[in-house]
Amino acid sequence: MNFKGIIADLLFNKIKEINSDSEISIEEITNNIEVPKEKKNGDYSFPCFTLAKVMKKAPVMIGNELAEGLENENFEKIENVNGFLNFYVSKNVIVKDTFDRFMKDPNNYGSSDEGKGKTVCVEFSSPNIAKPFHIGHLITTILGHSLYNIYKYLGYNTIALNHLGDYGTQFAKMIEGYKRFGTEYDFSENAIDKLADIYKRINEICEEDPAVLEQCRDTFAKLEAGDPECVEIWTRFKDLSLKEFNKIYDLLDIKFDSVNGESFYADKHEEVIKLLEEHNALTDSQGARVVDLTPIGQEVPFMVTKSNGSSIYGTRDLAAILYRTREYDFDKCLYVVANEQKVYFKNLFYVAQFLGIDKKYLDGLEHVGYGMVSLPEGKMSTRKGNFLKVEDILNDSISKTSEILKDRDIEDKEAVAKMIGIGAIVFANQKENRIKDQVFDINEALNFNGETGPYTQYAAVRCKSILEKANFAFDANEEIDYSVLTNDSTIEVVKLVSNFSDIIVQAKDKSEPSIITRYLIKVAQEYSSFYNKNKVICEEANVQTARLYLTYMVEQVLTAGLNLLGIKVPDHM
Ligand code: ARG
Repeated sequence: MNFKGIIADLLFNKIKEINSDSEISIEEITNNIEVPKEKKNGDYSFPCFTLAKVMKKAPVMIGNELAEGLENENFEKIENVNGFLNFYVSKNVIVKDTFDRFMKDPNNYGSSDEGKGKTVCVEFSSPNIAKPFHIGHLITTILGHSLYNIYKYLGYNTIALNHLGDYGTQFAKMIEGYKRFGTEYDFSENAIDKLADIYKRINEICEEDPAVLEQCRDTFAKLEAGDPECVEIWTRFKDLSLKEFNKIYDLLDIKFDSVNGESFYADKHEEVIKLLEEHNALTDSQGARVVDLTPIGQEVPFMVTKSNGSSIYGTRDLAAILYRTREYDFDKCLYVVANEQKVYFKNLFYVAQFLGIDKKYLDGLEHVGYGMVSLPEGKMSTRKGNFLKVEDILNDSISKTSEILKDRDIEDKEAVAKMIGIGAIVFANQKENRIKDQVFDINEALNFNGETGPYTQYAAVRCKSILEKANFAFDANEEIDYSVLTNDSTIEVVKLVSNFSDIIVQAKDKSEPSIITRYLIKVAQEYSSFYNKNKVICEEANVQTARLYLTYMVEQVLTAGLNLLGIKVPDHM
């Protein structure tokens, strides 16, 4: 039920009644309705000061006038407290409404078709080949995957893009290095470390010997021109890297619809230049071609081609935008990339307007940034001089979980340890607002009693086992006695369940999966408090049935919510 809409209608009519020539719209009223932080202030609240201008009165007086005789069957109480009109939804209304919505389609509860006919590209992960997949890439991978899931659940046609960093002069150096020392290495394991080592060695040589550097430049030109030997070696780097990245994607169970990296766009920059020229956006700057950014307050222009004519990172992004408008006809294209690139994306989206693409596409471009993540030992925790590897972090969490589960009697312990170990990391990385810098502590993430993934998974598992114990079988036509679902701890759970679809939409609107994470913690906590206060399996059949259905709802919400975050729920743990 749309309680905000009902309240807005009610207030709209009342305002008209008091002041017939008021020009306030229903929409304005709706936008001002809040959900109070404290339960004692009702389920919804309308701040009367927002009407002070229209009604030319003090908020408290407005509140009194509006509250006078204001009634509606959906609310058990409406009261004016210091200029806030607080609305208390009737318990039986909220219970009935929640169950009605749930019973129709319990396995897709909270989903919707708001995205029908709309396409959203979510670009995420995008690591650089032949370089370690670092913890920052883990965050974009986790966040991007959640956003992908959220849009999908809301009915959008959703496309997962991995804009692999697989282009640039460094690969020419690496090719040169590979030719010289490649045979010294066994690439069947830790290939990325070995490629990084080759890169380090060839760089040292380049620094000493300008002739080698020159040779590398030639190699890059050759690579760009499609020289078979260069392309073959570069493809090998890419395959070796993807093999390692895929291990991480497999652990997280993430699939991409496209892994067209930067190289895919390298031969598509001519059209970009032509279009920018047509829109008079290009100027020369010491042989390079650039777009002036002073209109958006930036001194340094946006470089499109270097003086030698080759493309750069930004050129390839422009080509990618153009390509995606045609290939996907997107309504939105999200870029889940660290905050460090915030200004870059602002500039990129500004320059994109000179490609002459439809305004719809320009409006749909959005950078979804995130803060830095560090490990308790410090930002670049080193292990024998190497980066702490993401793959190791994930596997470490799985083995720590196995250790915790060691003495438990559960089937399929390995699979369960994986779900919990991975889930703990995925959950912890989405707990705070994405923009905040955070410290990731594996021991905290694995605390079964904290506000963590395992805690939330356990809440769902407990619901499952209660249902199992009671031989619960869902029946869409079950006649549930709502009159037994009235005490406070029950109503708190129902209200949370009732809000699930709103929470998902909020998470989407703000590109903020943490809204779901924190909501799920609350659901788990409130259910636990309900469970402590109310016997679910009990003597009276009608009470037991009603509470079992509530338990089932909570289980569905927790499972669906965790799945949106990219986390699986085991049957037992
Ligand atoms: N490969 C880049 C990095 O690791 C991120 C790419 C972001 N996406 C983009 N379209 N520019 O920093």
